Amino acid sequence: MIVVYPGSFDPITNGHLDIINRAVCICDKLIVAVGSNESKKPTFTVEERIDLIRAAVGDCENIQITGFTGLLADFVRSAGSKTVIKGLRAMSDFEYEFQMALLNKKLEPDMETLFMMTSVNYSYLSSSAVKEIARNGGCINGLVPECIRERIVKKLTCR
Ligand code: COA
Repeated sequence: MIVVYPGSFDPITNGHLDIINRAVCICDKLIVAVGSNESKKPTFTVEERIDLIRAAVGDCENIQITGFTGLLADFVRSAGSKTVIKGLRAMSDFEYEFQMALLNKKLEPDMETLFMMTSVNYSYLSSSAVKEIARNGGCINGLVPECIRERIVKKLTCR
């Protein structure tokens, strides 16, 4: 089974990495798909976000990392998949994710959205929170993968 894990990943956090590591165990191939939520102004370019994910994930032949534009439903179909996985942090995520899952189902009736509960350690985490902490000189140790921490801090403090 090919599963697509879509998100903004602006930037990837340990919460995303947790979902990636667990999701790859339940499918044959996991496609991490970097898209953009038009209502958000991304800090990192799609290429930068892909590079950061690649560095965080390391070499894993079952994981493909790619960008996408347009509708998620179209990307999933073109990737030869029928399954999307998303992390669910708290009840506050539920309403939005429920709406997205239903809209995607309307667009692509064969497509299923699966939800994986975020590990409790990361249930409070978001990319925006990481960026706000780093921009203001706070410590983001333990919030993002250690191997990309410096790159994230540099990007957020050198502007
Ligand atoms: N741990 C920690 N944080 C997590 C997390 C986890 N497991 N899972 C999600 N988050 C956080 C993210 O960091 C992000 O934080 P931010 O808001 O501070 O940036 C937030 O949860 C939501 O992120 P994400 O899951 O990436 O959702 P998104 O709303 O940014 O959506 C797309 C991104 C690309 C999936 C979505 O915009 C999309 O599908 N676009 C294509 C257009 C389309 O088809 N739309 C639907 C039909 S109208």
